[in-house]
Amino acid sequence: MNSILTVHLDKIGQNLQAVTDRLKPKVQRMAVVKNEAYGHGMLPVANYLKDKVEWFCVAWLEEAIKLRESGIENPILVFSVPPKGKEGLYKKYDITASISHLAVFERLKKGTSCHLQFDTGMFRLGMLPEEISDAVAAVEKYSGLNYTGIYTHFACSDEKNHKGVKKQIELFKNIRSHFSDDLMAHTSNSGGIFYYGEETQFDAVRPGVCLYGYAPGEVEIPELSPVIEWTSHLVQVKPIKKGDLVGYGSRWQAPEDGWLGIVPVGYSDGLFRSLSGKFDMEISGSLYPQVGTISMDYSAVFLGSNKFSEGQEVTLLRNGELSAKTWAQKAGTIPYEITTAIKPKVKRKYIGA
Ligand SMILES: Cc1ncc(COP(=O)(O)O)c(C=O)c1O
Repeated sequence: MNSILTVHLDKIGQNLQAVTDRLKPKVQRMAVVKNEAYGHGMLPVANYLKDKVEWFCVAWLEEAIKLRESGIENPILVFSVPPKGKEGLYKKYDITASISHLAVFERLKKGTSCHLQFDTGMFRLGMLPEEISDAVAAVEKYSGLNYTGIYTHFACSDEKNHKGVKKQIELFKNIRSHFSDDLMAHTSNSGGIFYYGEETQFDAVRPGVCLYGYAPGEVEIPELSPVIEWTSHLVQVKPIKKGDLVGYGSRWQAPEDGWLGIVPVGYSDGLFRSLSGKFDMEISGSLYPQVGTISMDYSAVFLGSNKFSEGQEVTLLRNGELSAKTWAQKAGTIPYEITTAIKPKVKRKYIGA
């Protein structure tokens, strides 16, 4: 095995507790486990969380069916537009559909549970505020659907005190007032939960990245901690002389004589090539710089004068200074992209359940 991603499920539980500590009484938690739980593995994460949260949210119908077929009984909301021709599957598997487009009303089968999704400023999915009266009429016309919720999604809640969030909340409150009070209302992602107050909570929240231990924006959240460790080993250790040039493009030159370790993790595993020469690996408690261009299957680490044995464990990602947050800063992206990019071929190991 070239590398292993160890997922500490108990830490997901601690992160969920940090979410719960922020909530008003009775606000439901809709854990977002889309895209393999942001790369952590959807089924093991959902199985761990199923008795701890009220709902699950996924991006795609196929993900919801996978959850159902594995025995998950919690209500599940699918964010995407119901795929044409597959509407019957929502009813069959008791999955809640999002009505994010007026055309969806007539496509859903009678008895299907659904949440109305309004676009209050994100300009992605959702009916627009100017479509309220059409939506109200459609709810009346298609009265055979089981309307259970109404929601919107914030564009800028990853920043504290963003005026766009306040604007979206006001708009959402107005939209909500046109529909039955019985609909469960929800707006908050991790940013809404941690960077804003109770005004974003309504009846439920949709935590995603915070469950996996990352702050959604630049402002740190000390109660959260990352839940993964990505480890590999040295497959080769070779001497290197001052001035030797390493890797594709010979982009790194050894500053002194020493030892070079080869690690069997490359961009085909999800280690971004753009991180080449920008991060450290931990070996036996100390940090060593990754050097040279990351290739498809391998990366190199400069060991200085330490001649480690082949097979020596190497840690690429863990909590603290080796976290996905650090990688994200160096690669010019966000932790979400780092963890979802770790390929399925990297074996996941689950502990702490
Ligand atoms: C509609 C919706 N709600 C909630 C979330 C969770 O967001 P976050 O991971 O920032 O908590 C997402 C994720 O993209 C989403 O698309």
